[in-house]
Amino acid sequence: MDLEVQKGRTVAILGPSGSGKTTLMNMVGGLDQPTEGKVTVDGVDLGSLRGKGLDDYRLRKVGFIFQFYNLIPTFTAAENVEFPMSLAGVGKEERRQVALDLLRKVGMEDRAGHFPDELSGGEQQRVAIARALANDPPVMIGDEPTGDLDSKSARKLMQLLKSIRKEKGTTLLLVTHDPLVVAECDSAYSMRDGRIIKTLTSKDIDNARASAAHDEAMVEGSF
Ligand SMILES: Nc1ncnc2c1ncn2[C@@H]1O[C@H](COP(=O)(O)OP(=O)(O)OP(=O)(O)O)[C@@H](O)[C@H]1O
Ligand SMILES: [Mg+2]
Repeated sequence: MDLEVQKGRTVAILGPSGSGKTTLMNMVGGLDQPTEGKVTVDGVDLGSLRGKGLDDYRLRKVGFIFQFYNLIPTFTAAENVEFPMSLAGVGKEERRQVALDLLRKVGMEDRAGHFPDELSGGEQQRVAIARALANDPPVMIGDEPTGDLDSKSARKLMQLLKSIRKEKGTTLLLVTHDPLVVAECDSAYSMRDGRIIKTLTSKDIDNARASAAHDEAMVEGSF
């Protein structure tokens, strides 16, 4: 595939199971290496990074949000958010402060001392977003970030990502099946068998928007 994403844009990747979406995100996130070809982020060829360079890239350049949150179960919400900062060498007091600020930003300050199994799915996902933001990465990757959420939580999560993008100019790459998410993207691509087979038109994205708005009207109408 050949894909270029401009800084500050929000891009959706769609495609059936096994089409390579997670593989692509893992390569952009520096978690996996391509056997062929090249991934360049912010002018840096990821294939040229080794050891500490690669660790630094993962810690500072990309924030990862997974479908099933992947919080550390024996850490509280605050400790989960602090963790990437401690790996990056941020001192104890500063990282606690930043963690609490980030938890406030995602509306989870009241839950800072709670463990993941004491939180709902949507709450865990918000903690996971706070964690992904911990080292202020210019790129955020979401691998089906709303996949395990009800539509209300999914909507809130998209609002949150939108406000982060607006505030920080963060580039967002989002794997999704969810019209709610596609509706918020600048562009969208459909994958199959490791390739991009379709670039969604702005009309397709408008349709997703209409479908998301329709769903919202249905939800509101039901109360
Ligand atoms: N570590 C690996 N080694 C070899 N093959 C892998 C590995 N991980 C995934 N694959 C294969 O690569 C292909 C793409 O997998 P990938 O997980 O990227 O799909 P996906 O689009 O994210 O699917 P889903 O929607 O189910 O999450 C699949 O055929 C999968 O079996
Ligand atoms: Mg996947």
